Amino acid sequence: MAKKDLDPNYNDPNYEPVVNESGNLPFASVLANRMERRALMKGSVGAVLLGVMGGAGLSVAGEGHRGNGHPSNHSRAHLNSRLGFAAVGVSTLNQVVVPEGYSARAFVPWGTPLTGTLPEFFDDGSNSGADQEQQVGMHHDGVHFFPIDLKNGGNSSSEGLLVMNHEYINQNALHPAGATTFADGSRPDDEVRKEVAAHGVSVIHIRQDAVGNWSVVHGSAYNRRVTGGTEMDIRGPARGFGKLVTRFSPDATTTRGTLNNCAMGPTPWGTYLAAEENWHGYFANGDPVRPKEHVRHGVGSASRYDWEKAAGGADEYVRFNASASGASASDDYRNEPNTFGFMVEIDPFNPAARPQKRTALGRFGHEGVIFAPVEEGKPVVCYSGDDSRFEYIYKFVSAKPYHAATADGSLLDEGTLYVARFNDDGTGVWLPLSLDDDGFVAKMNAAVAAGRVGDIAFDAPFSSQADVLVNTRLAADIAGATPMDRPEWGAVDPASGKVYFTLTNNSRRSPDDTNAANPQGPNPNGHIIYWREQGNKHASSRFVWDIFVFAGESGTETVVDGKSVVTLDDSNLFNSPDGLWFDYNGRLWIQTDGSDAPPYQNNMMLAADPRTRDIRRFFVGPVGCEVTGVVTTPDCRTMFVNIQHPRGNWPDVNVDRPRDATVIVTRDDGGVIGG
Ligand code: FEO
Ligand code: CA
Ligand code: CA
Repeated sequence: MAKKDLDPNYNDPNYEPVVNESGNLPFASVLANRMERRALMKGSVGAVLLGVMGGAGLSVAGEGHRGNGHPSNHSRAHLNSRLGFAAVGVSTLNQVVVPEGYSARAFVPWGTPLTGTLPEFFDDGSNSGADQEQQVGMHHDGVHFFPIDLKNGGNSSSEGLLVMNHEYINQNALHPAGATTFADGSRPDDEVRKEVAAHGVSVIHIRQDAVGNWSVVHGSAYNRRVTGGTEMDIRGPARGFGKLVTRFSPDATTTRGTLNNCAMGPTPWGTYLAAEENWHGYFANGDPVRPKEHVRHGVGSASRYDWEKAAGGADEYVRFNASASGASASDDYRNEPNTFGFMVEIDPFNPAARPQKRTALGRFGHEGVIFAPVEEGKPVVCYSGDDSRFEYIYKFVSAKPYHAATADGSLLDEGTLYVARFNDDGTGVWLPLSLDDDGFVAKMNAAVAAGRVGDIAFDAPFSSQADVLVNTRLAADIAGATPMDRPEWGAVDPASGKVYFTLTNNSRRSPDDTNAANPQGPNPNGHIIYWREQGNKHASSRFVWDIFVFAGESGTETVVDGKSVVTLDDSNLFNSPDGLWFDYNGRLWIQTDGSDAPPYQNNMMLAADPRTRDIRRFFVGPVGCEVTGVVTTPDCRTMFVNIQHPRGNWPDVNVDRPRDATVIVTRDDGGVIGG
């Protein structure tokens, strides 16, 4: 999400406080390694930076892509780039720009009739809440295409389920004249209903006709809306835990809705995990003292949309008041925020299945999730970033092995959650957040003895693994994780197994609190980090890492072992990398959510060849948007790209109201996108 757009006061230091005050800043080791640099950025304004240096044999890049030899700086020159298109320039146009020979058109915009009575979209904002519950939601984000025949072992590229997140809303576009607040501070019930319904997830059955045009299969039983009000189950260790008890669910087994769904991850068994990112802002807790489960996540005294003030006082909206107003937790919604911050599993092929909140994957500002390739009989491994300034990157390793014939979401209910520490020497370690780990318990007990973790009082050990998971950020502080520059999407290279993550930017990092993995203070433009797990085994507890590319203006140079590996120019300058996805042919797609000022202009999507670090701008979005969410059909011949929060009248010049939409990109000759 573009936090600057979501929160008008984003740059006000008092408005969105940095909530990680844990002090996990490994200064000493940074200093010790300043003379040993691997990935170095130079050539751009203010860039006097360091990277990391590993010992011999610790190179990330030098460990080969399976089947592709062992590319080195020398041999890279002999690899042909996987990118076969001519880069497009930056753009200020209020339209999508794609390379010559490609076409792009908007598809399934906000308000598209989807379920039930298929209510028509009215371009004056006058659709009701009930209409919105049956229409595609707003602010499209993470998206995946499930071939319609996936469950039968098929790989259709002409029919499937397009599943996407709707991260947040633009009240000015959603309603005829923006949000209404009555004199007493309350809000109209139907406006609140519509806002809740514009959030969540859409499952859209789509099909391509004989001449290649895609359309929604109206009347399909697969078409579905999951919203901020849909009932769902709590699964994993936090199910039944006292800190999730609410008036709605006194046994702490269910909750309502998923919110602020940013990126996602398709699971190896054909379901969809939607991330809950900036969910904290939907709740208001006006109590003089807030619990650590709220404080560490930024839940404050006021909510973003005042849903808790819906005039009719319905329970489904009152729940956004997270103050302790009743006699006990089962009389109020003091714990409602503790039922958010999870990855939510939705089975697109089973419209009757309730969404499942998978608590074993931790509770934080999940940007998304990315699964490592599964191997029969081995644990399931997935990675997830916590997108807030100075937050962390996590990895989950299932307790039970994967077996294709029986795999399902229950694999995500038992396992170990780890958090990453990026050492300054180019190595890294996964720190278990587990009461079964002696090292973690020792650190926790030390924190109890100190009485605090950073600014947060901590006077008793976690009572259970559920307590650890509900307080994932605090547990990661205790473990000694490396605070990152806002981890956004991750991607795993299907050829090499290397894991890539975007670190979008960090305006608050000061020059003296950098670490080798986040070497810029401040970091206005972001970078992409990558690592290789020890032995190429994703369940390993150790890894080696480096920086793939520093974002920035023309001339920004990424230097590895003294050799320049990327120098950005007009064909690929970019900032604030966010969306990241490996397509089925091993191309890495990079999407941006930066300022739309020169030299970057409108947000964009670039393609990279991970072997050569050839990077080219492929796509530029319309004015004011963020480009977020990308997937192709299995044959890589149809690409779906989401455009979030456009300004003005995109995509329809005749409608004076912006509509988030998916863009379908095809090659005019029917070829592979990007090739
Ligand atoms: Fe929703 Fe971190 O972007
Ligand atoms: Ca994002
Ligand atoms: Ca972002």
